[in-house]
Amino acid sequence: MPSLTVFKGSKDGSIVQGTTEKPELSGDQVLLKVTASGLCGTDLHYRTTDMALGHEGVGIIEATGPDVKYMKKGDRVGWGYEHNACGHCQQCLKGTETYCHERAMYGMADFDQGSFAHNAIWREAFLFPIPEGMSDEVAAPLQCGGATVFNALHAYNTQPTDTVGIMGVGGLGHLAIQFATKMGCRVIVLSGSDKKKDEAMKLGAHEFIATKGAKELKVSRPIDRLLVCTSAQPQWDLIMPIMAPGGTIYPLSVDEGNFTIPYMPLLATGITVQGMIVASRYIHQRMLDFAALHNIAPIIERFPMTEKGITDAMAKLDSGEMRYRAVLIPE
Ligand SMILES: NC(=O)c1ccc[n+]([C@@H]2O[C@H](COP(=O)([O-])OP(=O)(O)OC[C@H]3O[C@@H](n4cnc5c(N)ncnc54)[C@H](OP(=O)(O)O)[C@@H]3O)[C@@H](O)[C@H]2O)c1
Ligand SMILES: [Zn+2]
Ligand SMILES: [Zn+2]
Repeated sequence: MPSLTVFKGSKDGSIVQGTTEKPELSGDQVLLKVTASGLCGTDLHYRTTDMALGHEGVGIIEATGPDVKYMKKGDRVGWGYEHNACGHCQQCLKGTETYCHERAMYGMADFDQGSFAHNAIWREAFLFPIPEGMSDEVAAPLQCGGATVFNALHAYNTQPTDTVGIMGVGGLGHLAIQFATKMGCRVIVLSGSDKKKDEAMKLGAHEFIATKGAKELKVSRPIDRLLVCTSAQPQWDLIMPIMAPGGTIYPLSVDEGNFTIPYMPLLATGITVQGMIVASRYIHQRMLDFAALHNIAPIIERFPMTEKGITDAMAKLDSGEMRYRAVLIPE
């Protein structure tokens, strides 16, 4: 019986090491040794829940179940937010299994294991081979953060002629800048302050706007697609005037409450608001290929995969000082 070492949230927000006992591998399940995990902004939302945390995992396959066909012991694979789907509903057949009614996702299912762990058991069908030459610590933040921003750009047919706005230079935002510039787009970054300007420009941005305290935002060109990568909803009335007619807003932030947006500007300029969550497996795989080809890599800070390491990483992310993604490494 495999026994997994996991790190969980708890009522008071402290990180607790725990053990999960699992039955022997069945179907297309594989047992993985975790080698790296990213810390995503969404993990902060679950730290007060009694569940195993982490959903940007990379590991090495240690054992395979009876129906595993394509992967083998020793393979390096990653996994993200989604762990399972029914495989036969219309969303699954269409390749948008992230909207399957029976989906198993982080925070909704499989509370007994995550990527803040020493090992894990997942279905082969929901694992992604890591491209050769891409390190585990680079691959980890791509499994949710990278997949999410690539999906916003790729699934809705971003064109190289588009002006793309990236709002919020955190784990998601700093990857979004790289993906959008490598897709050939003009990239305008909107960030709270000027602090991240140099780095954003180095990552490929063409323009940088500091938003804090601004009564009005000024951009050199209207934005065709805006990826909102902030950890809370922005001030939508500031954003509407900088959108191009017919433009699309992708509100990626996880936040509570309602979405309230100036109504007439939405109608009068034909703006689309496109909700979405992570990436289907098809797009996730293309994201990894694209990142490997164009050397897209997160800027990371390493922390040990221990109660203290996770606590420290979460505190730094919460304080706004993380540059730009924490990666937890088992000791
Ligand atoms: N929809 C999805 O599928 C999906 C997937 C993954 C994550 N998410 C969500 O996406 C958001 C970003 O995740 P992340 O991992 O990139 O987080 P992160 O690393 O904390 O980055 C968030 C950025 O938002 C800005 N920010 C910080 N505090 C803010 C505040 N109070 N109000 C507005 N902006 C603030 C900062 O950028 P500046 O300093 O540049 O302003 C910060 O770097 C989170 O809400 C996360 O839960 C959604
Ligand atoms: Zn995430
Ligand atoms: Zn389905």
